Amino acid sequence: MSRSDAPDWWRSAVVYQVYPRSFADSDGDGIGDLRGVIDHLDHLEDLGVDVLWLSPVYASPQADNGYDISDYQAIDPTFGTLADVDELVAEAHRRGIRLVMDMVVNHTSDQHPWFVESSSGPDNPKRDWYWWRPPRPGITLGEPGAEPTNWRSFFSGPTWTPDPPSGEYYLHLFSPCQPDLNWENPHVRQAIYAMMRWWVDRGIDGFRMDVVNLLSKDPALPDGEVAPGELYGDGFPFFGHGPRIHEYLHEMRAEVLAGRDAPFVIIGETPGVTVEQAQLYTDPSRGELDMVFQFEHMGLDHGPGGKWDVQPLEVRALKETFQRWQEGLSDSGWNSLYWCNHDQPRPVSRFGDDGAYWRESATALATVLQLQRGTPFIYQGEEIAMRNHTFTSAADFTDIESVNHYRMAIARGESPAVVLDALRRMSRDNARTPFAWDAGPAVGFSDGVPWMAINTDQDAININSQRGVKGSVYEHYRSLIALRHAEPTVVHGDFTMLFPEHPAVFAYLRSHEGTTLLVAANLSGDPHTVELADTPGALPGWNEAEVVVTNQLGDDLVTSDAQWLARDQLALQPWEVVVLRRRHTEGRRVPTTVG
Ligand code: NOJ
Repeated sequence: MSRSDAPDWWRSAVVYQVYPRSFADSDGDGIGDLRGVIDHLDHLEDLGVDVLWLSPVYASPQADNGYDISDYQAIDPTFGTLADVDELVAEAHRRGIRLVMDMVVNHTSDQHPWFVESSSGPDNPKRDWYWWRPPRPGITLGEPGAEPTNWRSFFSGPTWTPDPPSGEYYLHLFSPCQPDLNWENPHVRQAIYAMMRWWVDRGIDGFRMDVVNLLSKDPALPDGEVAPGELYGDGFPFFGHGPRIHEYLHEMRAEVLAGRDAPFVIIGETPGVTVEQAQLYTDPSRGELDMVFQFEHMGLDHGPGGKWDVQPLEVRALKETFQRWQEGLSDSGWNSLYWCNHDQPRPVSRFGDDGAYWRESATALATVLQLQRGTPFIYQGEEIAMRNHTFTSAADFTDIESVNHYRMAIARGESPAVVLDALRRMSRDNARTPFAWDAGPAVGFSDGVPWMAINTDQDAININSQRGVKGSVYEHYRSLIALRHAEPTVVHGDFTMLFPEHPAVFAYLRSHEGTTLLVAANLSGDPHTVELADTPGALPGWNEAEVVVTNQLGDDLVTSDAQWLARDQLALQPWEVVVLRRRHTEGRRVPTTVG
């Protein structure tokens, strides 16, 4: 595979995320490492992806599995060395794969020398590198309500931790081990940019910027609204997309990439982003980010109580969300497309049917997502449809978010069974079980004892049992990636949603220079038929189309083909997906052969 050198090469790329701790362990200590990634680059090459996004491998106390960095320019010994990173870059590049490093600059670890200095006292020159504030007037440090703001942290509890020696609090939007950097201070920004330049000089191809829309806070630090029954307030209006965010992101890009010709990508993780904000972040003329991760579709199964209040997914709402994002970023800007990452449960368990229609639902979900306009992201294990883990007790969870949530919810008097059920469905640990290479005792992940439980269902759900198997989830992913690379319509085509009101069928058209793709999936366990001829813009005559992707196995396809194509109908089996292609010039259809 050869790498495109176009400045916007990332528009035609497919990204694969590796969570190194759980990908492949080369030295038998039970924890995945960089050597394990290097040893398995053939897998990425075989899958056909263009970019490897590596979750953090920097020196870290691992309070949040590396999203708490104590030295940006050193590699944690758990994962390897800087020489390993250099080798990874070289080996990935040799295969035509680019490397995107995860970069966490909203906060550091509390063990980072900057914070150690900053917390040494109010007179330290680095005091202002973080957010320090006295207690609320009239309340003693450490007393409930003395926090400078009432904000709730992403990992439960308050966003402020008291520091008795100085009598002040410091801010952490995540855990107390992750103090927030003060981007108002120009020295902080310059130190971060210098560090990022150092990484660019090592030959990497991009950054995935962790919670990058939280960098700018309203310096007035106003209190947030407290929902009924809640202890803490919602500070997002004051730290999400803060007053100087666009200035910072523009400055960051300019400072880090100034004078460099090599094509580079900056991807922003932006929780809570709206289409309108994303238009600004990703408008190329503004020089901020190339694409953002939006979270709206990730929130569709959250109830009024948030992530742990799990609700069934409404297909209509899912379509409405995607349509809005597809249309909103059609003229300028760019979408990222994802179902999963290291923070989300496994998509086949969450949005599909991981029982009877495990294979069909995983492939249907993959297809309707990946053939939209934008850059698809595949999270390790998604390409073989790994399922959520069957956690049996609260003690099985390792993730800081899950552990804290359980503790706080039980303290609030919630039912342990209900809390556990929500954790089983939504915990980030679901995505972090070791990657299944084969059906061996530790799923081929490690010769030692894996750092966390392995899924018990790996007989079919591993690379070994799916590679080269016609109709497998893995081969389906390979064909979707190959289609994106071969068919410009997937990258450049317009997007038109069909049947927006249908409760189960997710269908859309992509059109580009005389080629139209019809992508149609039944996201349910019941059969559904839709009439293509009745749909405005859908055009009759799909009976002459070429079937380019299907998740139906064997000869059945031919039979069902004949039925639905002849009548310009799509009679879709449970979780069936099909992609049809027509080429037409000036209204005249040009029949193509079925491939
Ligand atoms: C987002 C990351 O994806 C997540 O894993 C992490 O816990 C938080 N940001 C804090 O860095």
